[in-house]
Formats: sequence, structure tokens, C-alpha cells
Amino acid sequence: MAVLELVNYGNPILRKTCNSVTDFSKLVDSIDNMFDTMYEEEGIGLAANQVGIDMNLFVIDISHTDDSEFPRIFINGKITSSDGESIFSEGCLSIPQVSLEVTRPERIIFKYQDVEEKWHEEEFDGLLARAIQHEIDHLNGVLIIDLVSEMQRARVNKEVKKIKKDSLAKLKQHPITKGFVL
Ligand code: NI
Repeated sequence: MAVLELVNYGNPILRKTCNSVTDFSKLVDSIDNMFDTMYEEEGIGLAANQVGIDMNLFVIDISHTDDSEFPRIFINGKITSSDGESIFSEGCLSIPQVSLEVTRPERIIFKYQDVEEKWHEEEFDGLLARAIQHEIDHLNGVLIIDLVSEMQRARVNKEVKKIKKDSLAKLKQHPITKGFVL
């Protein structure tokens, strides 16, 4: 197993809609590596494209605040309905050191597959609903900087610009990142 390199804002894989998973037989290594990377980086969730893998897959572990079963793996997920509203400070492993107050629905109904290809439709709320929305946004090319007011965005503009510049410079040096050819 391995800790993978995180892809930062500026890399185009974070702006694409990831491909659906069709071959479930080869997921094990990717998932193990994603967990290793998420724990190493102290994140509570990680989407596949954040480590350069173009697949509709994310993992979450919020066992520090929630005693239901974690870690969890969500494949080919889709929010089928949502309601309520909450505001919460979110960070993102792909935009290091930046946190923003993001408004999202409080509850969602989420349809997804597990590693055995079985479909589930479940209701989520609280932190888990928020984490799922953050990760599914990643898989659709959406980042937290897209979800806040101009005023909030302006406050972090300098940091975000620097992250993008560094990310593009890295990309220029190594145009082929894991699983993603530009
Ligand atoms: Ni993120």
C-alpha cells in the first residue's frame, strides 16, 4: 500500500467530471492507497481525482465524531434529493491552508454503489452529509472556492492563486500524473 501524491488546485483533473466505475475487480489497490493518503494527510474524506485517479469513487472516515461504521466507501454516487440548509467551515486537501464558510443542504438522500457493486439509497445528515457533498462535488469538478460569496473568495485569493501557480509548475515538470494523461 502507498501514500499517493495529492493533486492541488490548478491541476485540470480537479475540474473534470470523473468517469463512472464499471470494472469493480481492480478497485482494491486504489481504495487502500486512498485510505493511506487520507489518513497520512489527516483528512476526513478523499475523492479519487484528488490523487489523480479518474473514477467516481470517494472514501470518508469521520469515526472521531460519529460512532456508526467507518471507514466508508462510496462509488458512482448521486444525490437524489436534499433539504434544509447549514453553514460550516470547510477545508480541502487540494487547497491547503484555506478554509471557507460553505452553505449546503443539511440533509441528503444519496444513491451509491459499494465495492460489491450493490446499490444503496440512504439518508444522511450532519457532518457526514456535508462530507459526502464535498466529495461528490470533487468528482464533478466543483471546489469549495466555487461555492462562496465574492467577498469570502477575495479573502483567500492570494493563497489560492499561489496554490494554482505551484500546481501548474509541478504539472509542467511532470505532465503525466498517476492515472491521468493531460
Ligand atoms: Ni476537498
